[in-house]
Amino acid sequence: MNKNTFRNLSYGVYIVTTLDGERPTGCVANSAMQITSTPATIAVSINHDNYTNACIKKSGKFALSIMTENADPGLIGIFGFQSGKDVNKFDGVKTLVKEGISVPEDSCGYIVCNVINQMETATHTVFLGEVIDADVLKKEEPMTYAYYHKVIKGKSPKNAPTYLPEEPVEEKAKWACGICGYEYEGEIPFEELPADFCCPLCKQPKSVFQKQ
Ligand SMILES: Cc1cc2nc3c(=O)[nH]c(=O)nc-3n(C[C@H](O)[C@H](O)[C@H](O)COP(=O)(O)O)c2cc1C
Repeated sequence: MNKNTFRNLSYGVYIVTTLDGERPTGCVANSAMQITSTPATIAVSINHDNYTNACIKKSGKFALSIMTENADPGLIGIFGFQSGKDVNKFDGVKTLVKEGISVPEDSCGYIVCNVINQMETATHTVFLGEVIDADVLKKEEPMTYAYYHKVIKGKSPKNAPTYLPEEPVEEKAKWACGICGYEYEGEIPFEELPADFCCPLCKQPKSVFQKQ
């Protein structure tokens, strides 16, 4: 099985919120999708070790907030890399309360659900929620998982269901001109200099270049 295939699946970036008794809490999730339109249902996959999992099971409710590309990256830091077991994630976060669930104001919109079913996998619970409220908050570009990785240069922790180890960074081939020091970087690791290559600065031939 080539797990690199999974790198081409597309997702959004969401904050899934719920209740820990009276206290709001939640975590970042990319593994959310709309399942049906009428009645509207949403599914989200949450790791057994995430505090949010137990809180959704207890409260029977969750909300999905759709992050914008311009969202404060601090939100991902708090909701995606800390645990509601240890911190009050909503401290200092501007929120709205919808159907009893807190949602961050800084989002494209929110969707509140009642859990109507759940399925256990080895590591995650897939919650199926029936939508009881939803609204648009900001007319901004929703953040995709690809944008999070490519533009924000963010990482995913091990308990994200889509976690894959870092791709090994391929060292690109490099040559330096023995006359003027100009460095040429190839596109691929084992590239050879073209036969007619000459230094773009001092115009010396390929033979004066040394592989770095
Ligand atoms: C970009 C991103 C995507 C994530 N996606 C998921 C996800 O789909 N499901 C999940 O269980 N955890 C996911 N996580 C990890 C949780 O957000 C993270 O483990 C969080 O700290 C759990 O907090 P909690 O213990 O308060 O629930 C993701 C994290 C990031 C940064």
